[in-house]
Amino acid sequence: MEKQFGIRNILAQHEVIPVVSITNIDEVEKVIEMLKLKSINCIELTLRSPSAYQAIETALKIRPSGFHIGVGTIVSSYQVKDCKSLGVDFMVSPGVSNGIAEAFEESSIPFLPGVMTPSDIISGIGRGWNTFKLFPFDLAGGVKAIKTYASVFPQVRFCPTGGVHETNYKDCLAHDNVISVGGSWLV
Ligand code: 3PG
Repeated sequence: MEKQFGIRNILAQHEVIPVVSITNIDEVEKVIEMLKLKSINCIELTLRSPSAYQAIETALKIRPSGFHIGVGTIVSSYQVKDCKSLGVDFMVSPGVSNGIAEAFEESSIPFLPGVMTPSDIISGIGRGWNTFKLFPFDLAGGVKAIKTYASVFPQVRFCPTGGVHETNYKDCLAHDNVISVGGSWLV
């Protein structure tokens, strides 16, 4: 069984993953409509605002066909369990603890764990993972890090996020070890 429940397949369908923090529930529908108009068929809703769970529930209710609703900024195993109960399409964390790793692996939901350093990547590889959010991309070294990690970890694929924006996302996507990019610049 594929260890990350098909996260690569989801990322491969979306060149860009908009990272969105909703503060007003009324915005959920408008944001999804706006993304669809730009031919973007996914969203990563962060767990950073008090209305985050309500926003996720609303998004899942109105989810257009073929549109993926992910949840990001997961920092505890309890939040993984909440995502499982809600039935989200994928989960993203900025980093990983043992508790989060175990909850991810028990969830059966595609998950994208955050890494920044070689040791983070090696820990993930040790669990049988091969697809990561490279976060924060700019602090990790930007495109230089992507190039270096390509030769050291040829089996690994990344979704760089954190400092990716309109002017550099195409440079990121030009690398074979980058499947998609994430960022808040899209909304
Ligand atoms: C994330 O949680 O993925 C980042 O905060 C997004 O980073 P950005 O705001 O630099 O795009």
